[in-house]
Amino acid sequence: MDDFESLADFVYRRAGIRFESKKIYFLSKRIQKRMEQLGMESHSEYVRLLRFSDPGGVEFQQFINLLTVNETYFFRDFTQLEAFAEHCLQELCAKKASRGERSLKIWSAGCSTGEEPYTLAIILHEMMDEIQRWVVDILASDIDQVVLEKARRAVYEARSLRDVPAEYLDRHFQKIGNGSYKVSQGITKIVRFEHLNLSDKDAIRKYRGFDFIFCRNVLIYFDDVSRKQLVDYFYTALNPGGFIFLGSSESVGRITTGFKLKRSGGHLVYYKG
Ligand SMILES: C[S@@+](CC[C@H](N)C(=O)[O-])C[C@H]1O[C@@H](n2cnc3c(N)ncnc32)[C@H](O)[C@@H]1O
Repeated sequence: MDDFESLADFVYRRAGIRFESKKIYFLSKRIQKRMEQLGMESHSEYVRLLRFSDPGGVEFQQFINLLTVNETYFFRDFTQLEAFAEHCLQELCAKKASRGERSLKIWSAGCSTGEEPYTLAIILHEMMDEIQRWVVDILASDIDQVVLEKARRAVYEARSLRDVPAEYLDRHFQKIGNGSYKVSQGITKIVRFEHLNLSDKDAIRKYRGFDFIFCRNVLIYFDDVSRKQLVDYFYTALNPGGFIFLGSSESVGRITTGFKLKRSGGHLVYYKG
């Protein structure tokens, strides 16, 4: 195994992130830069550092931050969110209310800088009758500490906000100058951020009891085996009747057979029967 392959192998086993051959040039440039900062010349030297001289995982975290693409924005994939807002959410809340239940738990897995979980919180505020009578919990997790810090600050620029409907921008954000906006407290207070590596099988086990799981544009980092393991895990973490939303290029049906498929509005959605 050459130097670079041993690094790729280490990253796969530790984070479940597979270096795709078409991205290797781009990745090796980034890694090269990091090695130069540390005064290292070979990949094997760098792997040794990650393996044996990084007990707190500080360098590993820096390294992961180099590898992941954090591109995201508010109201990404609008039609999918419409299916969630206008159909799945209404159906699930009506069912829960008829049983006298008034709690709702959502997981944004791979939340990046926070636009996705805050979008979901805005949708809940806009679409639920008497949200104040519900206990709402949105868990947002990511492997990358840097994006989580930004997510907690909840300050965004025009690029992230391009698809936010104007009246939502008025209602749920405050302008803070320089073209930046801060998400209002009513929204931020129902979202909590946690650091989590979705490949860490022990850590992930405590995440249970969700009504909705969003894991969009994250599975691209996983190979077929780890992708299936994760989606199977999501099945366990969902309540019966709960829904899962993946990115538009990631079909649950191709990954696992547990979920059921139905049409909600004009959209096909996967749920746990
Ligand atoms: C492209 S962003 C997607 C953000 C958002 N879900 C969306 O669709 O707009 C992908 C995120 O997945 C995170 N990620 C990649 N591998 C991960 C892993 N093993 N565990 C947790 N998060 C991971 C990255 O750090 C990055 O923030």
